Amino acid sequence: MEERFEMPRRPRRLRRTPAVRALFEECRVETADLIAPLFVREGGGAPTPVDSMPGIVRHSLPDLVEHCRVLSDLGIPGVALFPVTDPAVKDAVGTEALNPECLVLRAVRAVRAAVPRLLIFTDVALDPYTTHGHDGVLTADGTDVDNDRTVAVLARMAVLQAAAGSDFVAPSDMMDGRVGAIRRALDAAGWGGVGILAYAAKFASAYYGPFREAVGSAAAAGTRSLDKRTYQLNPANRREAVADALLDEAEGADVLMVKPAGPYLDVIAELRSATRVPIAAYQVSGEYAQIQAAAQRGWLDLERTREESVLAIKRAGADVILTYFAEALARARSGT
Ligand code: PBG
Repeated sequence: MEERFEMPRRPRRLRRTPAVRALFEECRVETADLIAPLFVREGGGAPTPVDSMPGIVRHSLPDLVEHCRVLSDLGIPGVALFPVTDPAVKDAVGTEALNPECLVLRAVRAVRAAVPRLLIFTDVALDPYTTHGHDGVLTADGTDVDNDRTVAVLARMAVLQAAAGSDFVAPSDMMDGRVGAIRRALDAAGWGGVGILAYAAKFASAYYGPFREAVGSAAAAGTRSLDKRTYQLNPANRREAVADALLDEAEGADVLMVKPAGPYLDVIAELRSATRVPIAAYQVSGEYAQIQAAAQRGWLDLERTREESVLAIKRAGADVILTYFAEALARARSGT
């Protein structure tokens, strides 16, 4: 008989076989947890690839509708729509955002009509529409975003999105007081059933680079590192992030989102213990790009890394995950 230690607690007993490991698994990411962010552009033809996001494309409107049908058939409950705005219609104040025929509103109406069961989330912020690429209108001296004038525009934008058929408006601008203003505007316009998913803790992150390339908001500003630090959170600040997120809850946000996700798991976890409302997390373009880039070089295993990356986000406390991997994750689960 070989040597045996006296050891009442042997943690490896719970890891012994696949069946034991599965039974005691604490957390699982399911297709039903996922929201797919999608880019839509003007015109027809084949989808145009986004160079820094392998596998992600800018859809034409007809192609977007078809893709939404596929995602819904895979069991994905919702999509977040982002327009690639024609530079010709951008201006300093983002006038196009309030055009009832603007691209994203046409997209919402088309997807709503074609795939009624799919939840639609729309972004409320001015960056797709401004020549400078900021999320709002600028102050008179042009040095900063004017909070209150921006909020007034955002509230009107949210009402247009609700009228087009959006299920949740998602203010991603980080202006003060915008959730309350949007809630009041929606209710006054008769859209009391439309929810607000607030980008409650959104950091001034370098991880948005590929997204800005995808929608052309970086090109508009002439730089990849457009500085949004007077409104987006300082990556160093967890307490401030939680406090700001709780303000959004107090103003009427139905869901609080943390963004980016992977580098801010501590914020997700702390917010989870600070509130009872659902928490969403956005695994952003740069998080997607870095996994894809490493996998392309053979440095990381794509399937396992993407699974682990979203598992970590769920384990930290997110109920819902916005991820560019949504389709791939859903296919892995459905075996298609
Ligand atoms: C803009 C917005 C951004 C993202 C979603 N909405 C970029 C930004 O704030 O500059 C980023 C998403 C991503 O990187 O995937 N309101």
